Amino acid sequence: MTMTTHRHNAPWWQTAVFYQIYPRSFQDSNGDGVGDLKGITSRLDYLSQFGVDALWISPFFKSPMRDFGYDISDYRAVDSLFGGMDDFRELLAAAHGRGIRVVIDLVVNHSSDEHPWFAEARSSRSNPKHDWYIWRPMNGPRRPNNWVSLFEQKSAWQPNPATGEWFLGTFTRNQPEFDWRNPELRKAIYDVARFWLDLGADGFRMDVATAYVKDDQFRSNPFKWNLSPDIFQEHIYDRNRPEVHGIFREFRAVAQSYPGDRVLIGETHGRDPALAASCHGSGDELHMAFNFEFLFSPWGARAFRERAERWYKFLPQGAWPNFTLSNHDQRRHYARYGKRDADARARVAAAMLLCLRGTPFLYYGEEIGMTCRRLGRAALRDPLGIATWPLSGYGRDPERTPMQWDDSPGAGFTSGTPWLPVNPDFPTRNVRAQMADPGSLWSWYAGLIRLRKAEPALALGSLTWLDAPPDVMAWTRELDGRSVSVYLNFGPRRRELAVRGGSALAAWSPTRGYGKGGPNRGDAVPASRRVLEGYGILIVGEGTR
Ligand code: GLC
Repeated sequence: MTMTTHRHNAPWWQTAVFYQIYPRSFQDSNGDGVGDLKGITSRLDYLSQFGVDALWISPFFKSPMRDFGYDISDYRAVDSLFGGMDDFRELLAAAHGRGIRVVIDLVVNHSSDEHPWFAEARSSRSNPKHDWYIWRPMNGPRRPNNWVSLFEQKSAWQPNPATGEWFLGTFTRNQPEFDWRNPELRKAIYDVARFWLDLGADGFRMDVATAYVKDDQFRSNPFKWNLSPDIFQEHIYDRNRPEVHGIFREFRAVAQSYPGDRVLIGETHGRDPALAASCHGSGDELHMAFNFEFLFSPWGARAFRERAERWYKFLPQGAWPNFTLSNHDQRRHYARYGKRDADARARVAAAMLLCLRGTPFLYYGEEIGMTCRRLGRAALRDPLGIATWPLSGYGRDPERTPMQWDDSPGAGFTSGTPWLPVNPDFPTRNVRAQMADPGSLWSWYAGLIRLRKAEPALALGSLTWLDAPPDVMAWTRELDGRSVSVYLNFGPRRRELAVRGGSALAAWSPTRGYGKGGPNRGDAVPASRRVLEGYGILIVGEGTR
């Protein structure tokens, strides 16, 4: 593997730019309309040219696809829709050959109801696997408590007549939940983790990691004013229990028994940054817990800065931050923020994501400004979208539409009929067109990634906020005497601000584009008061590298 270790000896995942692939939608290689592993392998040159260092690939394991792979029926097999185990080995080797790491999705809060473990467990109370799942005795029709299945918006308790019990499914009824208090179950899951680590996976994104442990008394959740999908409950008893930290420590020991800094990245359930931050423990739990602050932030310099500051403040000593603007569960940020000035805002957002202190996670297609469209009821596939249609939106399908590679029929994604409709803007908004255009959003992203690699201060440096006028977010990153200052105007109005001197590393504004009137890369920028145009961006470096 030709992978560079940073001269500051930071683990690779601290300097890496991550790129999330939703495998159904990235690249189809066999014309069945669904993306697959061979498809991903065929796009590795693209990913390498774009500059990403690590992939997080959403689940591709054997699954009845009730939740599109987040319901696994064999943890050690690739679903035939996506290919086979050899395709995974090939993908991994080809990625590693290009210096790209591969993190896979570990979905072990629950399995599919079609997993043989569950078939055994539900067959009788005396089956050795019975206690691998969560059960409550059934005494009449009354459910054990008020816990809900988020994707079906009804009780999470499902009857199992064979044993006269209820089982638990807080996502769909087809995702029965494990009892993580059971030591045999824990061992079985750590064996699954070892299986993939032995194959060479670089780590795991851990699905709903803070949901593993449930309240031992099965208390009902208290009421909270929050609409779908949390359905008016504060989820303190069906997830987010303190006992989960013990499990994280066990997982960490498994990861650490392998060479090469295998990484654990946890998804927490809920929007609470303090909860996410707590998952780092004291350097003995998860390496990173997703920071979802930006997924739910309104647009604006103040809003983003407050959220970034809050996240830095909550992180325990020594923990490493991360930032995300889009993923497969939330509306893409291009759609969220793009009601006006969409392209300019996407550039400002990209500069923020790639210049803050913390590992950036990109979601496939954000580099070309893929957006979310309303889908007709008939096109919906996501169980959440189907259950909540039309009341609370359209579920998660709009952010999962096929990657827009070119303007050919099927957008270069498939030669068949895509499993979700391709966004209608693909003839003009696609990778091929944007790669050929040095002024495109794609080129802006690729340039920022190059800059991050060229400037260790941007990856690893300290961060100091700078005073700035309204709508402007400004900060300096500093490492070994070299500083990089970033000035972002989130608003459409020109703003005057004090700029630290140095040489321009990147500049952009909607009226001037790159350079052209503004500073070109390498131009000296005197320390002065300067005007930053509406949505203007200026990045300045000072000191020797
Ligand atoms: C996580 C995943 C989501 C999935 C759910 C249940 O939130 O990101 O896509 O549906 O867990 O596994």
